[in-house]
Amino acid sequence: MSFTVHPMTPVIGAEIRGLDISRPLDAETVAGLRHAWRDHAVLVFRDQQLDPDQQRAFVSIWGTIGKRSQALPSQRPRAWDGPDYNADAMLVSNIRKDGKPIGVLPDGEMWFHHDMCYAAAPNRASFLYSMEIPSHGGDTHFASMSAAYDRLPDRLREAIEGRRVLQAFDELQDRRLDLDTLSIESVKHAWQPMVLRHPETGRRALYVNRLMSHRVEGLSPQESEALLDELFTYGEDPAVRYEHVWKVGDLVMWDNLNSMHARTDFPREERRLMRRFTISGTPVTAAWEDASAA
Ligand SMILES: [Fe+2]
Repeated sequence: MSFTVHPMTPVIGAEIRGLDISRPLDAETVAGLRHAWRDHAVLVFRDQQLDPDQQRAFVSIWGTIGKRSQALPSQRPRAWDGPDYNADAMLVSNIRKDGKPIGVLPDGEMWFHHDMCYAAAPNRASFLYSMEIPSHGGDTHFASMSAAYDRLPDRLREAIEGRRVLQAFDELQDRRLDLDTLSIESVKHAWQPMVLRHPETGRRALYVNRLMSHRVEGLSPQESEALLDELFTYGEDPAVRYEHVWKVGDLVMWDNLNSMHARTDFPREERRLMRRFTISGTPVTAAWEDASAA
């Protein structure tokens, strides 16, 4: 099977053309896709027709399929008992049934984040497939955190070297948790390195995001906020972004270690239905853990 790779930007994102990913892929094709994914972090496959089993089969070539995290009652499925909703597939949708969302993260904007960075072993990759989209909005913006790190001034690199950050998440999509009033034990959270080393490329990647990164270890709250604000600005710089405008039938997969993503607002009254699978990951490796690979 042959395919072509079309980079979307100089630093992140590529469209793969010429493949029907609903069918089994040979080893050479899979190797080529792995190469493209390592180079571009975000791969886009247009015009795909995938039922849950076909999407699951495609995802499974990349690793072990991740189980959904449902530790908190607020993050459990609410009103959907259809075939799409089980332990590994997750519907991201604003569609309501009997007044309750059939999926998660239903409405509106969602700030930049790394999926599950608040877990000890975050998902390695996510695979989102679009089935219904609104007339406008609901775009997904991806940012290369390797490129963001490379653009940091020395002053900021030195400020974050060797430090950890508190990643936490409840269900807020466009504001941060108020840790002055909230017990951290009541939400999912983890201390993570502020810079990770990518397991395949060896490159450093900034590992902070506006939605989920809350406190820098060892700094006062004021110092922490000031530092994080600067880092968010570098991470969200348009120069390191690919902005995906969805069409029905798109399958977009992203590297959850060296990219973060955000969703733009969209009309609340229009339907949006996406199906997500993930590949499970291992604990994040800090950039400074393995100096020999630097
Ligand atoms: Fe996400």
